[in-house]
Amino acid sequence: MDLGESIGSNACPDGRCKRMACNADHENECSSTREAIRRLELNQNDTFVELGTGHGESLRRIAEMDSVSIPKRIVCVEISTQFRNELQKNIAELPKIPVEIHGEDCIKMPYLSDGAVTKLFGMNLIYFLNPLPEYLKEIKRVMKQNGSVVFGCKLGVIPSNTEDFANVDQKDITDAMEDAGFDVTTEKVEIYGGNYLEIKGTKR
Ligand SMILES: C[S@@+](CC[C@H](N)C(=O)[O-])C[C@H]1O[C@@H](n2cnc3c(N)ncnc32)[C@H](O)[C@@H]1O
Repeated sequence: MDLGESIGSNACPDGRCKRMACNADHENECSSTREAIRRLELNQNDTFVELGTGHGESLRRIAEMDSVSIPKRIVCVEISTQFRNELQKNIAELPKIPVEIHGEDCIKMPYLSDGAVTKLFGMNLIYFLNPLPEYLKEIKRVMKQNGSVVFGCKLGVIPSNTEDFANVDQKDITDAMEDAGFDVTTEKVEIYGGNYLEIKGTKR
């Protein structure tokens, strides 16, 4: 199943991800997520948040780690009811990791206090955060100083200039993150069968 199929049918009943016509297949998406999680260098002192968790490949990867690498708090924010149901099922198979799931739009995350989060991650999510500055303001609020925000994306292969895909330009995204108070770096990350763009912000 390709990403477009999994998202375009009814995986996102809230309508945010419909018309995703990414060429990458599902396996490729899982590889990106797994590599991105590895690169985060999680540890037991982290409070880790994943926005737009989908079916939870990230959590499977975390569950494979040694206990010293498993964050003390793991918060998943997933707006789609269908993805959340899938996520609940998949998490039940991973008793080793404590996960909180929240279903509201991540534009507000009242369950996270100011400066609580050390690492925040979103794979193939940033396109949909509209208006981006509002989301970044909330993300900045919850991040600890020097904490890392990592967005993985495939800017070259996603549809551009559509209503759903609001953020598709690398410079616009990095400028918005800088304006929001993050020092930003980007890196093309090679994975088996492709690559993805890592956009990393460190809270000033
Ligand atoms: C393209 S999917 C990516 C899923 C997963 N990260 C992956 O790479 O397989 C984007 C996900 O973000 C979720 N999402 C979109 N906007 C969101 C928002 N404002 N708050 C929380 N979740 C959101 C969607 O429901 C969907 O599961």
